[in-house]
Amino acid sequence: MRLGPILAACALAALTTACNKSEPAPAAPAAEDAAGPAPVPAAAAAAAGPSDEEKKAVLASLPAPYNTADLENGEARFALCQSCHTITQGGANMTGPNLHGVFGRKSASNAEFKYSDALKAANWTWDADHLNQWLEKPQTFLPGTKMAFAGLKDAKDRTDLIAFLMVETGHKP
Ligand code: HEC
Repeated sequence: MRLGPILAACALAALTTACNKSEPAPAAPAAEDAAGPAPVPAAAAAAAGPSDEEKKAVLASLPAPYNTADLENGEARFALCQSCHTITQGGANMTGPNLHGVFGRKSASNAEFKYSDALKAANWTWDADHLNQWLEKPQTFLPGTKMAFAGLKDAKDRTDLIAFLMVETGHKP
C-alpha cells in the first residue's frame, strides 16, 4: 500500500537525482571504514585491553585474506585452544604457553615454559604463514612437538582463527 505513492513519486522523478539516492553508493561507506575510528585514549585502552573499535582497525589493517576474516568464527574456533592456552597479556602458561604477543616472536621464546626439543630447535618467527601450517597439523609440520592438537582442517577456519589471534594478542601490523 505505502509503496504506491513512493513508486509514483520515483517514476515522476526518475530522471532526477532524488530517486537515485536510494541506490547504494559504492565507494563512500568503505572509504569511511578505511579511515578508521577515532583513537581511544591510551590509558583506557591499557586498562581494558583493545576496544572493539581498535580491534576493527587492526583487522582492517591485516594483509588479505585476514583483513576480511570472520572474527566471531575465529573466536568460536579458539575454543579448541583454550584448554591449553591463554592469550591475554600476562596470562598463565598452562599445558601450552601463553600466546600474548606471539606474532613476531621467535618460536619457543617464552622463558617460563618448558618446550619440546623439537620446538626449541625450530628457530622460526611466528607469523600468519607459520601459524597456518602449524594449526593445520602440528605433528606433521613439526614432528616431535608436544602440542597434542589434531589440527584444524578447514582453511577458512584457520584464517578466521589466526585473524582473531592477531587482533586479540596485541599484534602490531
Ligand atoms: C592439548 C593442549 C593444546 C591445545 C589444544 C593447543 N595447544 Fe598450542 N601448544 C601446546 C603445547 C604443549 C605447546 C608447546 C609445544 C612444544 O613445545 O613442542 C604449544 C605451542 C603452541 C604455539 C607455539 C608457541 C611458542 O611460544 O612458540 C602456538 C602458536 C600454539 N601452540 C597455538 C595453538 C592454537 C592456536 C591452538 C588452537 C587451535 C592450540 N595451540 C591448541 C598445547 C596445546
